[in-house]
Amino acid sequence: MKKSEENIRNCYSTWGETYYNDYYSDNSAYPPVHLDLILKKLTGHKGGNLLDIGCGPASMLRHFKDLEFQLFGFDLTPEMVAECKKVMSGLDPSNFWVGSVLNKSDFFRSPNSPEKYDASTCIGVLPHIPEKFDSMVIRNIKDSLNPGGLAIIEARNELFALFTMNRYSGDFFENKLLPKSHIKAELGDEKFTEICSKINKQFRMDLPKIRKGKANEPGYDEILSRTHNPFELKEHFVKAGFREVKTLFYHFHATPPMLKETLGEKYNKISMALEKNPEDWRGYFMASAFLTIGIAA
Ligand SMILES: C[S@@+](CC[C@H](N)C(=O)[O-])C[C@H]1O[C@@H](n2cnc3c(N)ncnc32)[C@H](O)[C@@H]1O
Repeated sequence: MKKSEENIRNCYSTWGETYYNDYYSDNSAYPPVHLDLILKKLTGHKGGNLLDIGCGPASMLRHFKDLEFQLFGFDLTPEMVAECKKVMSGLDPSNFWVGSVLNKSDFFRSPNSPEKYDASTCIGVLPHIPEKFDSMVIRNIKDSLNPGGLAIIEARNELFALFTMNRYSGDFFENKLLPKSHIKAELGDEKFTEICSKINKQFRMDLPKIRKGKANEPGYDEILSRTHNPFELKEHFVKAGFREVKTLFYHFHATPPMLKETLGEKYNKISMALEKNPEDWRGYFMASAFLTIGIAA
C-alpha cells in the first residue's frame, strides 16, 4: 500500500495548482454536474462540522463556504493540501491537513476537529483504493460521523463498461462477467484466452487512450484508478451501518464516447439533458460516475 500511495502522491503532486481549472472551470471538457447534486444534498441537511476526505485543491470546499458548516479537509498529497490552504485562506489553515482515508486517526488531525462530523464528502478518492480496503474505508467514514450524519461518496461506474464498447468492455467481460474459473476448469486456459480474444474483437480495444502524466510522474491511468459497481458499493454502505442509502448517477453520455465526434458540438448538450434525473435507471450504464449517499445510523 505504501508504494501505491507513493504513486498516487506522485501523480497528483504536479496537479495542485491546475486541477481545479482542468475539471471545474469553463475550460473543462464537461461541466462539474456533481457539484450541484452535492450542494443540494448538503443544503437539505442540518449544518455542523463537515469533513472533505481527499479534498484536493479544495475543489469542493471552496463551494461550501456559504453553507452552514464548519469546514475541514485532508488529502494524501501535500501539494494538494498546500493549494487547499491557499484557496481556503481566511479559515484556520490547521483545518486542512495531510492524511489518508485508510487511517482512522487521520480523520481528526486538526486541533479544531470535533469528536465526530455531521457530514462528509469523499470525491475522486475511491478509484485509488485497492478493492480489499473498500469496506474498511466506508467503515472509517461511517465511524467518523455522528448518528444522523450524511456521507456522500463518489465512484467511477464499473457498469459503464457495458456501454463504451472499448477496452473497458473487454476487461469487464473477461474479469467480471465470464465464469472464468469454470470455463478454465472445463475447457482449459487456452480456450478461455480464445473466447476472450473473440469477444475483444467486438470492441475497440485501442480506446480510450491512456492518460499520461504531465512530466515524468505517472498519469491518471498509470496509477490505480478503479471503477466500482454501484450495487456492491451500496451493499458496503448498508453493511457499514448506513441507512437511506441511495445512488445518484452523473456524467451521462448520450452515446458511447467513441461516437462523440459524430454528434459534434451537440454531444454535451444532449448528454446534459440526461443529468436532470440522477436516479434514471439508464445511469447504471450511461453514466460514468455516481454518488452513493447514506445517513449514519
Ligand atoms: C481526483 S482527485 C479529487 C480531488 C477533490 N476531491 C475533487 O473532487 O476535485 C483525488 C484526490 O484524492 C487524493 N487521495 C488519493 N488517495 C487518497 C487517500 N488514501 N487518502 C486521502 N486522499 C487520497 C489525491 O491526493 C487527490 O487529491
